[in-house]
Amino acid sequence: MITLNLNGKDHSLDVPEEMPLLWAIRDVAGYSGTKFGCGMGLCGACTVHVDGQATRACITPVGLAVGKKVTTLEALHADPVGQVVQQAWLELGVAQCGYCQGGQIMTATALLKGNPNPDDAQIETAMAGNVCRCGTYNRIRAAIHVAAD
Ligand code: FES
Repeated sequence: MITLNLNGKDHSLDVPEEMPLLWAIRDVAGYSGTKFGCGMGLCGACTVHVDGQATRACITPVGLAVGKKVTTLEALHADPVGQVVQQAWLELGVAQCGYCQGGQIMTATALLKGNPNPDDAQIETAMAGNVCRCGTYNRIRAAIHVAAD
């Protein structure tokens, strides 16, 4: 049994410490906003925040998140920067199929919390690990600029 601080609440989860954080979040705690894409740390669909850092939940053992604060898309509205990013995504209609967008938003929020006004190159670097098969990259970049204003 481990205690995971997830979206501001302690959850007691009967899981092994080596279970990927993604499965603990989705299948055990029941927050389905975090998506499974590649399972190998390559696509970014599973991005959550661990103590504010954008983190790939598919390759992070849940045991490593014990004692830290894990935030998923479901609780991002409670974060002022997360709120602004989500609003910008809506304003610009960023999503196409939408599958990767939760991870994109989590990474963009972590970027803006560390760098409130990134230039295109900094956005490119920060977002490089988040893949979008629909090719919404231009709208993602524009939405990050809107959120930064
Ligand atoms: Fe975790 Fe692709 S599902 S990076």
